[in-house]
Amino acid sequence: MLRRLYHDQPATFAFTDANLAWAEAQMKKFPEGRQASAIIPLLWRAQEQEGWLTRPAIEYVAQMLDMAYMRALEVASFYFMFQLQPVGAVAHIQVCGTLSCMICGAEDLIAVCKDKIAPKAHVLSADGKFSWEEVECLGSCANAPMAQIGKDYYEDLTAERLGEIIDELAAGRVPTPGPQNGRFAAEPKSGLTTLKDFTSGKAQYNASAQAAVDIGDTVKRIDGTEVPLLTPWIQQPPKPKKPAAAKPRKDPKPSADVPPDSSGVTKQEARAASKGRPVSKSNPEPAGAEEKAVAPKPRATRAPKKPKT
Ligand code: FES
Repeated sequence: MLRRLYHDQPATFAFTDANLAWAEAQMKKFPEGRQASAIIPLLWRAQEQEGWLTRPAIEYVAQMLDMAYMRALEVASFYFMFQLQPVGAVAHIQVCGTLSCMICGAEDLIAVCKDKIAPKAHVLSADGKFSWEEVECLGSCANAPMAQIGKDYYEDLTAERLGEIIDELAAGRVPTPGPQNGRFAAEPKSGLTTLKDFTSGKAQYNASAQAAVDIGDTVKRIDGTEVPLLTPWIQQPPKPKKPAAAKPRKDPKPSADVPPDSSGVTKQEARAASKGRPVSKSNPEPAGAEEKAVAPKPRATRAPKKPKT
């Protein structure tokens, strides 16, 4: 699918102060000179702030990361999670249309979007509040069919329930994300069959849905003030490595005073009997003198052949 920049672009883009602090903190995660590695989180935060990724936003991020604009555009146009055209002011609905969801009713969900939002994907609704698209598997196949709205997953959907969710969003409410059929997560609809001991003490919703309810930023534009900026990688610089302590040198210890056998002579005291023993005043006899010298056999040589006549 060809992904182009939208024809109508805003004049400028700038991060909010809090988002700028967040972006600069992300850049410090990477070694000096490798700040371009932060391209995806920064583009994503720009999209969270504006709703979609504008050309000025891509240029702004490229400039922050000291990289060519074309390289930033390559990233933005490659990944489908980046919206290169305006999306609904309230919500952009991404309906999964891959196998599990398609089998379980994705086409019915798409029909709701066509009916309530716009006949074609990526087209704004008449009031500008909504847009929709069909996306590939979002990894929630056990809860098919499902759709991502803003940051959150709405799972185990029916056409009727998706219609209600769109109506709630249009009325300014944020429906509770997660499974919409009463399931906690992806367990059987009839209840747990294993790990039953772990059911007590859990929160009302699964971790993802609970965080969405607690933070409440499901479809909100993110200005960076939603949660405190935590940057443990900046506050705790790596400690300088201590030089390894030199190991004490171990000299070989002779077995002094310990006779190795019944002769009582230690290895250190025993006279060398090798052929390599040097001749000296105290040792006039060359090593191996007692051995019979064996003269080397003369090497047989052949007479040169006469040339043929
Ligand atoms: S097929 Fe829809 S989430 Fe995987």
